[in-house]
Amino acid sequence: MAIISLANAKGGAGKTTAALILATELARQGNRVVILDADPQRWITSWADVTGKLDNLTVISEVTATSLPYHILEMKAQTDYFVIDLAGARDALVTTALGLSDHVLIPVQGCAMDARGAAQILDLIRLLQDKAGIAIQHSVVLTRVSAMVTTRALSTVKAVLEARGVNVLNTTIAERAAFRDIFDCGGNLYGMDPARISNLDRAQENAQALAHEVMSLLPVRTSQRPQHRTFFRMGRRAA
Ligand SMILES: Nc1ncnc2c1ncn2[C@@H]1O[C@H](COP(=O)(O)OP(=O)(O)OP(=O)(O)O)[C@@H](O)[C@H]1O
Ligand SMILES: [Mg+2]
Repeated sequence: MAIISLANAKGGAGKTTAALILATELARQGNRVVILDADPQRWITSWADVTGKLDNLTVISEVTATSLPYHILEMKAQTDYFVIDLAGARDALVTTALGLSDHVLIPVQGCAMDARGAAQILDLIRLLQDKAGIAIQHSVVLTRVSAMVTTRALSTVKAVLEARGVNVLNTTIAERAAFRDIFDCGGNLYGMDPARISNLDRAQENAQALAHEVMSLLPVRTSQRPQHRTFFRMGRRAA
């Protein structure tokens, strides 16, 4: 079992999109995934309402700072990955989620260089480390990277962040229609119509690369999985 949070104090950085493409890809690969919707705007919950049910994926809505640890305790025996979608804030819920996480992913828009929201999360992670002795693994993931951005420009952004001691994922999240439209279509990237959504195959490859790299960063902790594959209905629960 591993807990991954998506955090950036700035709104619109790409947290929910990254959470959804990561979670749906992990579930598609047969992992049992729980998305904890910890954003009062409930975008993941809206997506879940459109989706109905999806194999291996459960969405829990209206998660609060108080309820978060209980949801994890309650579900951890049947879960391989918890993915926590946080609001663009730096509050008690964000702090609780960071403290519980095995890895925090901090989406930063690739070429915008407005990393102030990310810096606030990095400060909070450092504070938790210095004052509470909680070491939290974390990485920046560059998001909404357009096809126009050169590898060289991205390498420069990566080098600047790494010079400050911040790990940056090798996988970037591209700007893709599929990553926008999935919220309206529901389901995962494999239920979408390639005739209607450009570069759907590239979006699928991108999601696979993201899941692969994130899994490689997590501690290997196998929960007791049954021999047969288990399917979970997508259900919503009150906090
Ligand atoms: N990789 C992407 N490709 C295309 N559109 C994207 C991508 N990432 C994010 N977007 C779009 O950018 C907007 C903001 O993204 P998202 O909702 O994921 O950010 P957020 O950090 O969760 O925002 P908030 O702080 O409001 O929760 C949305 O309209 C989303 O569809
Ligand atoms: Mg969001």
